[in-house]
Amino acid sequence: MKITIFGTGYVGLVTGTCLAEVGNDVLCMDIDQKKIDQLNQGVIPIYEPGLEAMVKENYQSGRLRFTSDAKMAVEHGLFQFIAVGTPPDEDGSADLQYVLSVAKAIAEHVTEYRIVVDKSTVPVGTADKVKSLIETALTARGVDIEFDVVSNPEFLKEGSAIADFMKPDRIIIGTDNPRTTELLKALYTPFNRSHERIIDMDVRSAELTKYAANAMLATKISFMNELANLAEHLGADIERVRNGIGADSRIGYHFIYPGCGYGGSCFPKDVKALERTAKELGYQAELLGAVERVNERQKHVLFNKIHQHFNGQLKGKTFALWGLSFKPKTDDMREAPSRVLLEALIDAGVTVQAYDPEALAEAKRIYGNKAGLVLCKTQTEALNNADALCVVTEWKNFWSPDFAQLKLKLKAAVVFDGRNLYEPKQLKAAGLTYYCIGRPVTSSVSG
Ligand SMILES: NC(=O)c1ccc[n+]([C@@H]2O[C@H](COP(=O)([O-])OP(=O)(O)OC[C@H]3O[C@@H](n4cnc5c(N)ncnc54)[C@H](O)[C@@H]3O)[C@@H](O)[C@H]2O)c1
Repeated sequence: MKITIFGTGYVGLVTGTCLAEVGNDVLCMDIDQKKIDQLNQGVIPIYEPGLEAMVKENYQSGRLRFTSDAKMAVEHGLFQFIAVGTPPDEDGSADLQYVLSVAKAIAEHVTEYRIVVDKSTVPVGTADKVKSLIETALTARGVDIEFDVVSNPEFLKEGSAIADFMKPDRIIIGTDNPRTTELLKALYTPFNRSHERIIDMDVRSAELTKYAANAMLATKISFMNELANLAEHLGADIERVRNGIGADSRIGYHFIYPGCGYGGSCFPKDVKALERTAKELGYQAELLGAVERVNERQKHVLFNKIHQHFNGQLKGKTFALWGLSFKPKTDDMREAPSRVLLEALIDAGVTVQAYDPEALAEAKRIYGNKAGLVLCKTQTEALNNADALCVVTEWKNFWSPDFAQLKLKLKAAVVFDGRNLYEPKQLKAAGLTYYCIGRPVTSSVSG
């Protein structure tokens, strides 16, 4: 089938590549000419495991092509996927300017039947907006061309995006037109082989389903972080509590890890946008507001522990920081807790020596030559002359460091762990003081 994808970011590039992988003829369009040039030269602008090889293979086969030409893009695909960003506006609502500009481009160039498939995460009612924008533009052009607008939200996770797309938990198709449902079902047949994964519904429910999923996951995280903070006051160990509640199959072990807050391009903005949607309708979404506030507070928890440990005497100190991306296996630093911590440390006069396996280039892009920030090529280099170590992202490379070496290197012999990666007893035995989330502090000094 002929498919056009607008937007070659984390979602668009993965979607286009996976659809080409199963034999479709895919044209990806982006307004970012630099990105398109890079892709045409075989340079993948993002880090996503397995993506580079798959893009190259499909590019070479001719099934996957890249352009910045909107007209060519609209002429190409029966399916016109919208996979552009929907960042938060100043008031927290989703900024739809990129989605609507794609709709405009489609309306301007369309000459025959098209199915506009919205994959971006958009507020309920956006499909209606896209539809009326295209209708108005077609009327202005004086043409009568049939089209449909479908909501097909994406649930892939950065870091395992290809596997998630190739073997999705579910494929949500939101449309009020049964013919379009059938066409999309046909498109998704290769991803629906082992069992039925397609759930079709009306457009508005499909749009809400995406927000509901992200809000639910964010709620689980904030709930655990709230309890972790409480556990610290109570002298309880949240890791034991986590095991204790996870054993209940109604709760389960997924997504109940306490930490230094969630980040990324989705949870923060989607929770805010859903709350904003509710507000616009005159409904106060109490829980969503709390989820957001708990998370914002949680991003400061590590800094508060650091500040307290050093009695506020941070000026002139050097800290190693392991992990910049908002989660492992991605270079995405959007809303990453690492940013809140490193900025607070630098503001307090600390030199931060940061290391990340994949996000160094992204950190450089964001911070340039920011005073107080040193980007290190290895995790060991980040420890040189450091007083303390902070771990913010649970990359596998950080799971089992040489604690004896840490003790030798860290002048203040203290580790602040925002992901509860280590066994407190082990650090204590190595002579390190260990702070993590929701567990008692283990100090090498107190014996
Ligand atoms: N990143 C994720 O893990 C994820 C998962 C599920 C859903 N989503 C949703 O998918 C959407 C895209 O997210 P992303 O992370 O891929 O965004 P991204 O920022 O990585 O990529 C967006 C791309 O769209 C391009 N673009 C902007 N306007 C354009 C236009 N008019 N025509 C063509 N291209 C245009 C940008 O240049 C950019 O390359 C968002 O709504 C997001 O919430 C993201």
